[in-house]
Amino acid sequence: ETIDATGLHVIPGAIDVHVHVREPGFSHKETWTSATRAAAVGGVTTVFDMPNTNPPTASVAALDRKHAIAGSQAIVDYGLYGLIGEHNLDQLEAMAQAGAASFKLYMGSENPLVPCPPDGAIVAAFEILARLGIRTTVHAENTPLLTWRGETLRAAGRTDAAAHLEQHIDLAAVEAVSRTAIFAEWTGAKVHIAHESTRHSLPHIRFAKARGVDLTVETCPHYLFLSTDDGGRLGDNFMRVKPPVREPGHAGPLWDALLDGTIDMLSTDHAPHLMSEKTRDVIWDCAPGFPGVETSMVLMLAQVSRGRLTLGQYVRMACEAPAEAFGMFPRKGVLMVGADADIVLIDMSKTGRITAAGLHSIGNATPFEGFALHGMPVRTLVRGKTVALDGRPVGPPGWGRPVTVRRT
Ligand code: DOR
Ligand code: ZN
Ligand code: ZN
Repeated sequence: ETIDATGLHVIPGAIDVHVHVREPGFSHKETWTSATRAAAVGGVTTVFDMPNTNPPTASVAALDRKHAIAGSQAIVDYGLYGLIGEHNLDQLEAMAQAGAASFKLYMGSENPLVPCPPDGAIVAAFEILARLGIRTTVHAENTPLLTWRGETLRAAGRTDAAAHLEQHIDLAAVEAVSRTAIFAEWTGAKVHIAHESTRHSLPHIRFAKARGVDLTVETCPHYLFLSTDDGGRLGDNFMRVKPPVREPGHAGPLWDALLDGTIDMLSTDHAPHLMSEKTRDVIWDCAPGFPGVETSMVLMLAQVSRGRLTLGQYVRMACEAPAEAFGMFPRKGVLMVGADADIVLIDMSKTGRITAAGLHSIGNATPFEGFALHGMPVRTLVRGKTVALDGRPVGPPGWGRPVTVRRT
């Protein structure tokens, strides 16, 4: 295939290490087909899928089943997360051998499918993963901190207090980030902090890195582009996401941290839900999270156009840093993002607007409706094959392959 790239920029495909594909279990929200078509159009050539499906990806059998589903549908490459639970620590090594690309630990969760292990189990898990040389992604939010007299404040009917804690106090996140770093330091585990949402974590992250803890950190577009002020426009209930979008005054320091390397990379926490699931009357009944794989690159390219960052800085945070952190380089010591021709062609002159109706996710309830775009991916190639062209997914189902991660 000969491709005319006159006037276009050529960059490596984005690697999104935080994607909830939803299948098996929640295919009314998203499937491997819909998620990877959205990713391809968005310039993402590799997605790492989270384990909070039904069944959760907590055993070799569940991992094998998910590999089969993904393998038949995906049009971009993928890594599968295994779940760290209190009761499956004896299976982590077998799951790694069966191809788990990384593992996910929920330090705070109210989802019974992915319960939060006690601290002793977390340290034991980190010891195993340190030995295996696999980076572990942590949802660092201390939900138990929100309990009082044995109940969550919400279950105790203290919804005002619970809302206050969940929405406006980021102590639960800061404490868990700091505790994760301390556990990593004790065990020698490589850990990755998911979806950093608050400026109050940043000194703790800098301190851990300065001590030599092998810590990497991601943030997501909703923390960079939104604040609680958007609740008026979008509805406070629709805005629900874990961790929450914070008050004005956090996004600026998060941008600075992303540009100075305190935050290593950009992911999306792509969490598709139906609009009907996100707009219920009671906030606690509203599904948390937003789709992200299709809107992240275009949102950032609009900022490149405005001069807030360079295209090179974007490539660093969206392509190189995740490849480096998760061991996706083809030969030891050689970092070659875009190797094996995972490539995106960008037209920086192209303009448009984000619309939910234009997205390829089933759960297309985006908070970025109407955002003005300047710069778009026009062609996405995975291993040399065009999988998206001019905003349309064109890759054959099953072209996506599991990634090989190098353990160190
Ligand atoms: O907002 C969120 N949505 N945070 C999570 O941790 C889970 C995710 C989901 O699966 O919907
Ligand atoms: Zn999470
Ligand atoms: Zn997530």
